[in-house]
Amino acid sequence: MGEKILVTGGAGYIGSHCVLELIEAGYHPVVIDNFSNAVQGEGVVAESIRRIEKLLNTTIEFHQLDLLDRPGLENLFKKHTFAAVMHFAGLKAVGESVEQPLRYYKVNLTAAMNLIEVMQTNNVRNLVFSSSATVYGDPTRLPIDEQHPVGGCTNPYGKTKFFIEEIIKDQCKAEKDWNAVLLRYFNPIGAHSSGLIGEDPQGIPNNLLPYVAQVAVGRRQCLSVFGDDYDTVDGTGVRDYIHVVDLSKGHIAALKKLKENCGCKVYNLGTGKGYSVLQVVKGMEKASGKEIPYKIAPRRGGDVASCYADPKLAEEELGWKAEFDMERMCADLWRWQSMNPTGFTKSTTS
Ligand code: UFG
Repeated sequence: MGEKILVTGGAGYIGSHCVLELIEAGYHPVVIDNFSNAVQGEGVVAESIRRIEKLLNTTIEFHQLDLLDRPGLENLFKKHTFAAVMHFAGLKAVGESVEQPLRYYKVNLTAAMNLIEVMQTNNVRNLVFSSSATVYGDPTRLPIDEQHPVGGCTNPYGKTKFFIEEIIKDQCKAEKDWNAVLLRYFNPIGAHSSGLIGEDPQGIPNNLLPYVAQVAVGRRQCLSVFGDDYDTVDGTGVRDYIHVVDLSKGHIAALKKLKENCGCKVYNLGTGKGYSVLQVVKGMEKASGKEIPYKIAPRRGGDVASCYADPKLAEEELGWKAEFDMERMCADLWRWQSMNPTGFTKSTTS
């Protein structure tokens, strides 16, 4: 049996794809999730996890557990010897975080603190943290490398990512046997090629690709394009979209890095290529064979014109680089969306 890896928020979009890759790479993931965003399947197992079990013909240890439940977390660490922890759990809606800052700070920071403290008392000193390019704020230069200044983000969600990074960095400085890899994601999209797992936002999607996919499948009528007067190729916002399976493979590479007693390391996970909103819409029209109606709407507060990674450091030090192009990302997203028009739940509720 492979090394045990605790995956927090493992039923969610990125977490579940990482669980799948962990198993394929020979690890033994133990998954926790509180179902604040993920869909519960039959029994107490998350639907995403149940589908991975089916796909890989295996069983996955899953616990419904909230990281704010300190005694529950301590119990879990008593039962298992984890080689490392991958921390995905957290609230992640940018707009909501502006409206409910206290909730975001309390949940995201307390969850991270509980986890790190319980790791510390149980001698688990290897951590992969799900961070975000949002820590860079409005870029002062492009492409963005890891040396770009951080902390400039304006919303509470992004600040929690920044604060947690700082906490982990300080802990690694204080205790030399700690190792952590902070992964700054650009814009993860797409889905596993099986079409069995994918992103399933609850309510109206905040992010571009889930929204576009729901328009293509007929669940929403028309995309609002937030601004067409940016200084970009066609005036719409440019982002570095990365296939979620590539991203997940980056986490496996990060786990291997921890083995080198690397201390605290920071890597961008992106492709290095930027696509505009309208280019993405075109890509999804091609993948789905559907027309995607859109209208130009005002800019969304807090959005930057362009954001894309310099992904060189991850290639040099992790031996990882993104493989899948935009066409493949759109094809895989469409497969997931068309096979699961209402996501993980069977009935249409939104
Ligand atoms: N957009 C639209 N219409 C929509 C949704 C998005 O035009 O309905 C545009 C945005 O204005 C932006 C682009 O599509 O130009 C991408 O927007 P997303 O909301 O998909 O992604 P963001 O780049 O705004 O945010 C993402 C993650 C955050 C993370 C950030 C890091 O959602 O969690 O990247 O840079 F913090």
